[in-house]
Amino acid sequence: MSGAAPLVFRLEGVTKDYGPIRALDGIDMTVRPGEKICLIGPSGSGKSTLLRCLNYLEEPTGGRIWLNGEPVGHTIDSVGRRRAPSEASINRLRMSVGMVFQSFNLWGHMTALQNIMEAPLRVRRLPRAHARDLALGLLRRIGLEDKQHAYPSELSGGQQQRVAIARALAMEPQVMLFDEPTSSLDPELVSEVLDVMRTLAQEGMTMLIVTHEMGFAEEVADRVIFMDRGRIVETAEPHRFFRRPESPRAAQFLARVVGRGRARSGSEQHDLRATTGGEETETGRLATSKTERET
Ligand SMILES: Nc1ncnc2c1ncn2[C@@H]1O[C@H](COP(=O)(O)OP(=O)(O)O)[C@@H](O)[C@H]1O
Ligand SMILES: [Mg+2]
Repeated sequence: MSGAAPLVFRLEGVTKDYGPIRALDGIDMTVRPGEKICLIGPSGSGKSTLLRCLNYLEEPTGGRIWLNGEPVGHTIDSVGRRRAPSEASINRLRMSVGMVFQSFNLWGHMTALQNIMEAPLRVRRLPRAHARDLALGLLRRIGLEDKQHAYPSELSGGQQQRVAIARALAMEPQVMLFDEPTSSLDPELVSEVLDVMRTLAQEGMTMLIVTHEMGFAEEVADRVIFMDRGRIVETAEPHRFFRRPESPRAAQFLARVVGRGRARSGSEQHDLRATTGGEETETGRLATSKTERET
């Protein structure tokens, strides 16, 4: 492998089987420092599984993953035996890779401030005063300093998700994974979460984002990766992807998600935007409710 390459992640032929179901079917990809990648694809295409493998919440069935040139998960020793990763290496991985889920998963019995302080205290073992300063700084960054003493039940979904992002950032991760971070939010709360993510992107964070917010993906992503049936079907520069998807499956998916326009692939490529009467800014927020998405 290319240990010297300045890659955050490198994946080679990653597969993941759940019994007879092949959730990931030979994923090759690289993630460079500072890169923003949006993962797009129909439900069941393996997007969440991919993120969970990167964070070692799942162990791939086959293939290899490296983080900063270090193998993620088991290794094969000199006599060909599988060796489980050490706890220290799993901890190092989890500290480097922040994750934000669709359901915010904040601890209900802790205030916003305590939620953010928890990992710095327990995992990073920072002194309490230091952890508190860090958490307050993060609350300021997400615009919720005045909610530091609020419990999750006293916060809106958008506010809870912003706290969940701050909680992940409190580990000072090298890369952030987002799995449909706005999909369970009421439409009017989506933009406040996307604003926080946009700022993070501008600050140079390396980000992998599973999203159905196509406008956001087009704006923020350096690359879009379209997945279907456990495979990467298309990797593209976002402006091109959203206007002229190359693969028929991506075109079909976009046409369905965008809910208007009939994108075609190949020679009949269609500018999706051209079919929407020029409503360029309306491509985002088109699939915020589950029912609009593919299931
Ligand atoms: N824990 C699991 N057990 C069994 N099958 C699973 C599990 N997680 C995911 N799958 C299956 O793997 C495939 C990919 O799922 P997932 O990664 O959640 O897709 P996506 O996030 O793109 O919707 C689906 O067929 C799903 O049913
Ligand atoms: Mg998913």
